[in-house]
Amino acid sequence: MSSPNALGVAHPATVASRPGHVSLAGVSKAYAGRTVLDDLSLDLVQGEMVALLGPSGCGKTTTLRILAGLERPDAGRVTIAGSDETTAPARSRNIGVVFQHYSLFPHLSARENVAYGLRIRRVDRGGRTQRADELLELVGLAEHGGKFPHQLSGGQQQRVALARALAIQPQLLLLDEPLSALDATVRARLREEIRRIQRQEGITTLMVTHDQEEALTMADRVGVMLDGRIEQLATPETLYNEPETPFVSQFVGVVNRIEGTVAGGRITVFGAGLRVANREPVASARAVALIRPEDISVQSARVGGAAGVVVEHILRGPLSSLLVRHGADHLRVDLATPMAGSYPVGTPVSLGVTRTRTIVETPVETPAES
Ligand SMILES: Nc1ncnc2c1ncn2[C@@H]1O[C@H](COP(=O)(O)OP(=O)(O)O)[C@@H](O)[C@H]1O
Ligand SMILES: [Mg+2]
Repeated sequence: MSSPNALGVAHPATVASRPGHVSLAGVSKAYAGRTVLDDLSLDLVQGEMVALLGPSGCGKTTTLRILAGLERPDAGRVTIAGSDETTAPARSRNIGVVFQHYSLFPHLSARENVAYGLRIRRVDRGGRTQRADELLELVGLAEHGGKFPHQLSGGQQQRVALARALAIQPQLLLLDEPLSALDATVRARLREEIRRIQRQEGITTLMVTHDQEEALTMADRVGVMLDGRIEQLATPETLYNEPETPFVSQFVGVVNRIEGTVAGGRITVFGAGLRVANREPVASARAVALIRPEDISVQSARVGGAAGVVVEHILRGPLSSLLVRHGADHLRVDLATPMAGSYPVGTPVSLGVTRTRTIVETPVETPAES
């Protein structure tokens, strides 16, 4: 089997007939008249991992619950492996789920937790124990099968939850903020671990998270969600480098806000004309360009350049941030730490932009206050 590479898998245009393929088509959901999912569509290719990334309350968990059969959509269709599952109950769907809170059965050992789904599916005791032990080994807990949840760390409990979800050989794995209750070191290690297992098992996976680093480092494709819709679904590289909306640009990275004049589809920033790459046409003549810190260049000040003064250095490891005062604004400029040393605090610099495209934000008309 060819494994997807870190730059993302290929996505053929027609995948609807592939086994394991998962699709939400035009799904809407409202609670008490309030729209939570708004005509949301999403397709997963067999074996890929997609992350839905968005702020709290944007509808991520609701999307998972609809896929799992724990909620019915008001409109739209859920298809799993070519069969329409829109109204199928949760227990008849072959789906593994891992939630943020460990949700293991406290009175069952790790091994019994992993074997639980197999017992429901009437696998005999010998078969259950063998499969549970294989799964515990897969998640690095071979020695811990006899322990109860309270005897395991948070990270270990999430590994058991993952093993339990995988034990039934699901057609789809759903992960709802699986790492957000863990501390940073454990989180980073489990990210890699989950990704390795997901690839090794070739299991189609939808993860939801509000953590952009988690989404960008783990998934083949990421869908950025806002208000019950997917704003943009693309590889991490595309989302970061070629966002199509102001929200995506700001949600998947840091941006500086630099005002400029728009004409003929370009905005002028520091004397350079950048192509305005917004998906929606921009009508206004003034706009704010959203420029990443690593896309601003500094040079020793020359006459005529856009002028700034370095006012602060922040060491971030291999990168450093310069805080540069430019008119009334402070801009963050990221550069390799050895380079940053050339621009001590107080240095006058001229500023440039090293990109040829940008997303802009247009001013929102604020209603007059009464
Ligand atoms: N069962 C429910 N009844 C009423 N409102 C709900 C219910 N489930 C979710 N919501 C609301 O729907 C919105 C989206 O929730 P959710 O999908 O949990 O968001 P997320 O997981 O992105 O934080 C929230 O405003 C939430 O309060
Ligand atoms: Mg949620």
